[in-house]
Amino acid sequence: MTTAATRLPRVDRGSSPQVVRTRAELRALLAAAPRPLGLVPTMGWLHAGHASLIRRARDESATVVVTIFVNPRQFGEAADYTRYPRNEARDLEMCGAEGADIVFAPPAEEVYPPGYDTTVHVGAIAEPLEGAARPGHFDGVATVVAILFSLVRAERAYFGQKDAQQVLVVRRMATDLALGTEVAACPIVREPDGLALSSRNVHLSAAERAAAPVLHRALAAGAALHGAGERDATALRDEIRRVLAAEPLARVEYVSCADAATLEELRTVDRPALLSLAARFGATRLIDNQPLG
Ligand code: PAF
Repeated sequence: MTTAATRLPRVDRGSSPQVVRTRAELRALLAAAPRPLGLVPTMGWLHAGHASLIRRARDESATVVVTIFVNPRQFGEAADYTRYPRNEARDLEMCGAEGADIVFAPPAEEVYPPGYDTTVHVGAIAEPLEGAARPGHFDGVATVVAILFSLVRAERAYFGQKDAQQVLVVRRMATDLALGTEVAACPIVREPDGLALSSRNVHLSAAERAAAPVLHRALAAGAALHGAGERDATALRDEIRRVLAAEPLARVEYVSCADAATLEELRTVDRPALLSLAARFGATRLIDNQPLG
């Protein structure tokens, strides 16, 4: 549908976004911002996957807000938080190139002011897979996203499908807390060799980078078996593990074939399902997934 928003974008792609650091500045800018408003929450180190989210937000919104905040509450190990890559100047350039109007890049005390003492905990959907592998991770994600949704009050927020469980967790949270922001999931963007784009890819050594596309190959093998008629979920998980086992640099954490809505592991693929996995290459942990049906 063509809307006024798509006919009359507020800024041209390529111009600089307005950068704000405080809640008060953000509120002041948003009070006068044309609606609908599209929000792209990020932790920076933007890549083509983020660019695709900003572009979609641009196409569907009169005002696009990108947030850049490396959220300490969603990292298990302090070392992981510290080594998370950062380059704000480059991020702002990409935000401008893709047509973002406003970038909210706050310091930690603007997001979690002194005395801050609230955690948003999402239930069952946050428990398996990434929730089991990274205790507390989704509490951190749900908490920061709830704050960002409350501050920005966008009609729609855009997330990458690579973090498929994150999409389900955030959607549950936004629905349950009636935050009024719809959660849109955007397709995974991949390198030509199939590796899903991730800010963490920068940490891979040359050998690990060469090995990492095995994740996509393994999922594709599982999907191909499903396409050939296999409905036994164990057979699909085994096929994925078989492909992964051929790559000695991949240390597999989990392989899942689960109900796409609840993430409960399946015996039989008799409904929309999600193949997903996590593996370490050296110190770098990567995830990927592939929907079925
Ligand atoms: O996906 C991410 O980059 C983060 O988890 C998010 C949604 C920006 C929350 O910090």
